[in-house]
Amino acid sequence: MARFDVVVKWPLSSVSLLLLVFSFFSSSRGSVGSSLLEQREFDYFALALQWPGTFCQRTHHCCSQNGCCRPDPLTWFTIHGLWPNYDDGSWPSCCSRSEFDPKKVSSLLPVLEKYWPTLSCSSTSLCHGGKGLFWAHEWEKHGTCSKPIIQDEYSYFSKALDLYFKYNITDILNGAGYLATNADKYPLGDIVATIKKAVGATPLLVCKKGSVQELQICFYKDFKPRDCHVSSTTREDTSNSRNSCPRYVSLPTYAPLMLEDVNSAEAAVTWF
Ligand SMILES: *[C@@H]1O[C@H](CO)[C@@H](O)[C@H](O)[C@H]1NC(C)=O
Repeated sequence: MARFDVVVKWPLSSVSLLLLVFSFFSSSRGSVGSSLLEQREFDYFALALQWPGTFCQRTHHCCSQNGCCRPDPLTWFTIHGLWPNYDDGSWPSCCSRSEFDPKKVSSLLPVLEKYWPTLSCSSTSLCHGGKGLFWAHEWEKHGTCSKPIIQDEYSYFSKALDLYFKYNITDILNGAGYLATNADKYPLGDIVATIKKAVGATPLLVCKKGSVQELQICFYKDFKPRDCHVSSTTREDTSNSRNSCPRYVSLPTYAPLMLEDVNSAEAAVTWF
């Protein structure tokens, strides 16, 4: 039976591949065509968190949306995104033309603003041209590729929040004595072991100049935790904690730039 399947399916998939190739060449937006070609179903989810202390130290520009500019420094991990990934370290992106609609997540907005802020004043690029909100970027680039597990925008954001609340990495680290401070460095191996023990799977850490910048925890498609490792020959050299983090890492804090400082900071460097 399986043989017949293969025999019958190959010509069909070749035809659809050809159609995709034709639509790629006839499309004025090459990048859309190429991501359509790549979009086989993903293998696992990574919940990517960012450490504001590392990003916000470099903030020279404020605006109301920028989480770095809140009056009190953010001393907890905030959400970057929930990313469908492939086991080989690559990932699908921009899988449909479903544009971000804030109305669909209106009930989540206060929580999103608190725990999923952008840490920049620049808008981010969207899949099909233009720029927009950080949330729009995450939904369009990553969220649309999480089918068939996550079907729509509301489910995407609420699932990410669920996981974030369920596996409170800040709480896990604080409980083990790893606090936001500029005065200490912590052994990377101990941080990884603490999270591994609490979550049941190995996280992935990304550092910038010895400071934790991003931390990912990973999940099978049924949302049971799994290790984040990916094969090492892929994309950035940050695909493995050891590659970008030294043996001792810091969880820095920062002095927030206030919104009142906007005018004086305006002349300073804008990032990205
Ligand atoms: C996570 O834990 C920290 C520290 O205990 C707490 O302040 C924070 O509110 C928690 N975050 C969430 C999303 O529950």
